[in-house]
Amino acid sequence: MHPTLASFAASVRDVLREQDNPAGRERVAQLLRDALRDRAFVDSLFDAASPPRKVVHEDPQLGFCILAHDYRDAGDGPPHDHGPSWAIYGQAEGETFMSDWQAVEPAAPGRPGKVRKLREYALTPGVAHVYNEGDVHAPRRAGPGRLVRIEGVNLERVARGKYEPVGDGISPASPSRVRPAPRG
Ligand SMILES: [Fe+2]
Repeated sequence: MHPTLASFAASVRDVLREQDNPAGRERVAQLLRDALRDRAFVDSLFDAASPPRKVVHEDPQLGFCILAHDYRDAGDGPPHDHGPSWAIYGQAEGETFMSDWQAVEPAAPGRPGKVRKLREYALTPGVAHVYNEGDVHAPRRAGPGRLVRIEGVNLERVARGKYEPVGDGISPASPSRVRPAPRG
């Protein structure tokens, strides 16, 4: 059966109501992988005027959000977490080069934390990855891409820590250089 936004949201709600923890979010990520394989479902979330960030469902019961991200060009996002929330990144089109970072010094009021890069990997179409509370990550795109993301709560209303990269042994620490990526 083809998922619709409403049926997908209901499935996510069923899982999170029962299990809002890393294991439950992995189940949600699998639902998202399945949905991303359905061309009609993906197409239903986007149109020619899609903005970089569009909340397509904000759950009235649990507060999670489903978002369609339509990025028209390259972007280089700084390391970030999602404060007290979590997010699942699902790649619909294009490719995201994601990196995971380890905190070496916590953020404090008025002072960014320091993080070191641990690994890099590609999110390719159909891949969905869970970032739990406090997981620091940085997305980068070499070109256009579309993502379907799920946030535990609408992150527009959540304060998040700032982080500065320190040397990582993988590549030199460098500031964002293409353009600030939308927060994600
Ligand atoms: Fe993120």
